Amino acid sequence: MSLKTKPLSEQVAVVTGGGTGIGRAFAGALAAAGARVCIASRNETALRGAAEALNEGVGAERVFAYAFDVRVREECEALVRHCVGRFGSLDVLVNNSGLAVPETVDEITDEGWETVLQTNLKGAMWLVRAALPEMAAREFGDIVNVSSQAGKHGYADVPSYCASKWGLLGFAESVRDHARKTGANVRVFSLCPGLVDVENTAAGAAPRAGFVHVSNMAKTLLYALSLDREVVLEDINIYAR
Ligand SMILES: NC(=O)c1ccc[n+]([C@@H]2O[C@H](COP(=O)([O-])OP(=O)(O)OC[C@H]3O[C@@H](n4cnc5c(N)ncnc54)[C@H](OP(=O)(O)O)[C@@H]3O)[C@@H](O)[C@H]2O)c1
Repeated sequence: MSLKTKPLSEQVAVVTGGGTGIGRAFAGALAAAGARVCIASRNETALRGAAEALNEGVGAERVFAYAFDVRVREECEALVRHCVGRFGSLDVLVNNSGLAVPETVDEITDEGWETVLQTNLKGAMWLVRAALPEMAAREFGDIVNVSSQAGKHGYADVPSYCASKWGLLGFAESVRDHARKTGANVRVFSLCPGLVDVENTAAGAAPRAGFVHVSNMAKTLLYALSLDREVVLEDINIYAR
């Protein structure tokens, strides 16, 4: 039995942290491909400005701002409900919101640890928890988690960040296995970038030494989504050579 497919132009995406940096590049690329994109994070003013600029770039109203805090379960659930209610489905969930609190292992505080784990890992879990039934019900969906090379290697200056990004990879494997066992047409991708230049983001701008231009993240996302539904693409490592 062949799995349901859907052109990007008919898809609805949520990109958390979609108003800045990598998320903004994701949102721009998805909108340029015709998807409707809900960009969601805490700073509503920044989100609105980003949505306006991205819509101007594609010459259509395809990007929508939504203010929420990924650390709050009810707000994650409300975001998913909002998208499905307003646009009719949620096809691509990009868990991109994230931050680091630089505390070495002998400096870790409860506050720093909780902030990082809640933002980078627990919030992504609540969004997946809310989105998966919607995707399963419509027999179509993709989940994209933005992990990091810090999810593959440990770094002394950001142990909580590394723990969260490793955790995200483990959670992705479990969701992938769940989809396989339940027969859900839901793929789970994990992007593991090294350093991405979120300062020099203009098209054609030279990235800083050792960084990749943010457009490579957007190209990688679109490539992963373009693969056949039967294909499993697991962790994608992407970094400057
Ligand atoms: N840049 C890199 O070199 C690099 C490398 C590897 C992985 N990454 C990962 O890539 C993702 C994007 O990072 P970036 O480099 O593009 O940095 P960024 O511009 O700082 O993006 C982080 C985003 O997360 C959002 N966010 C933070 N706390 C949140 C909360 N409580 N609720 C909802 N949204 C929240 C922020 O928006 P608000 O402030 O509006 O909430 C912001 O848009 C992160 O997961 C990061 O760990 C980045």
